[in-house]
Amino acid sequence: MNILLLGSGGREHAFAWKLTQSPLCEQLYIAPGNAGTAQHGVNVPLEADDFDGLKKFVLKNNIKMLVVGPEVPLVKGIYDFFAKDKKLKGIPVIGPSQAGAELEGSKSFAKEFMKQFEIPTASYCTVNQENVEDGIIHIVSGKLPVVLKADGLAAGKGVVIINDFVEATQMLRDILNGKFGEAGKKVVVEEFLKGIEFSVFALTDGEHYVLLPVAKDYKRIGEGDTGLNTGGMGAVSPVPFVDDALMQKVEERIIRPTIYGIKKRGMVYKGFIFFGLIAVDGEPYVIEYNCRMGDPEAEVVLPRLKNDLVELFQATHNGTLNIQNIEQDPRATAAVMLVSNGYPEIYAKGKVMTGMDEVQSSLLFHAGTQADGEQILTNGGRVMAVTSYGDTIQDAIDASNKNAEVVDFEGKKYRTDIGFDLTKGM
Ligand code: AMP
Ligand code: GLY
Repeated sequence: MNILLLGSGGREHAFAWKLTQSPLCEQLYIAPGNAGTAQHGVNVPLEADDFDGLKKFVLKNNIKMLVVGPEVPLVKGIYDFFAKDKKLKGIPVIGPSQAGAELEGSKSFAKEFMKQFEIPTASYCTVNQENVEDGIIHIVSGKLPVVLKADGLAAGKGVVIINDFVEATQMLRDILNGKFGEAGKKVVVEEFLKGIEFSVFALTDGEHYVLLPVAKDYKRIGEGDTGLNTGGMGAVSPVPFVDDALMQKVEERIIRPTIYGIKKRGMVYKGFIFFGLIAVDGEPYVIEYNCRMGDPEAEVVLPRLKNDLVELFQATHNGTLNIQNIEQDPRATAAVMLVSNGYPEIYAKGKVMTGMDEVQSSLLFHAGTQADGEQILTNGGRVMAVTSYGDTIQDAIDASNKNAEVVDFEGKKYRTDIGFDLTKGM
């Protein structure tokens, strides 16, 4: 069948790599894609949220499955757009309906959902222009630090953690007054949880689910988890402290109640749920839901998945995930992200990339790259994920660090300490 994949990051290159390993995938198209996805299919110059443009393309090219990488088209309702269109309905869309995508699209919706279904998460209060005073009382009567979250999508920039009551109340007003645009019309004020984060990925058909390998990502720009937040500087899988006992708690207290809640509320959901979790003294809590795979988590999770991904997506659409068994590669994987100097703030694009042909022992998943004739140029802050397998996490990290040296471009930066908190003493 012909498949259309939406998105243009490292996650989408990893999807393209995995989908085209399936004998069920005849032709892959990627909109808009990057120089890496073009190695596996045909890039199409359409944005992932240009629904009318995508409709024309899907009909003209006999597309039989749509795989949605990023959250924006999901939160804008691409699932429902297909389901309601006379000509498009029946084409499987891998991703939740707009109602399901609200789990990521609105933090207050997600918190209220977790409250209803008794899913462990930080205590909170939702504030808007009408109840600012309640929000301030909530802040000053709580503990430091204070966590403030813009309700809507803010491209990873909508969360601030502040260690001072006065600054926190000022920040609450600033966000409500537009510091993060429309996303901040409502703000979730949240209790700070102290623990260690990890990511669990489920693929669900709305009734059943399968679990993919667990991963941990490294969001801060600097070594030792310091400096500004980024989209993700690297990731590893598996995560040693996430043992069977912890996973059992995660399934019982978080995953099953979430799937139950989705069903109970009649939310159509045929796609990934990314559970951003934190273990506090061994007890799991939800930090956030995402309605898609993670990036760079996909670049370590998909290489450890042995199943045919197209088959899994067909089962997702047909509601038969209960008869699918996930097979995991026993090896560890690590991804080190090469980024442009200045990221996550101001950085240059258009730098010539070299050394990719010399890398044999790692997978190179392109993120912000663009082909220019024979050359590959940088085209974003996060440029390329160097993913390696290893018998241990440390072996995988060492291999990625070695090849992160080999690929080069002006201003290249990367963290050499991905996995540092997992491998100490190993
Ligand atoms: P989010 O955009 O919700 O993923 O939040 C960004 C980051 O902020 C998370 O990955 C956590 O590191 C941190 N964070 C969010 N909420 C909390 C919380 N309640 N307690 C501690 N850290 C948090
Ligand atoms: N790496 C975190 C995310 O994809 O949201």
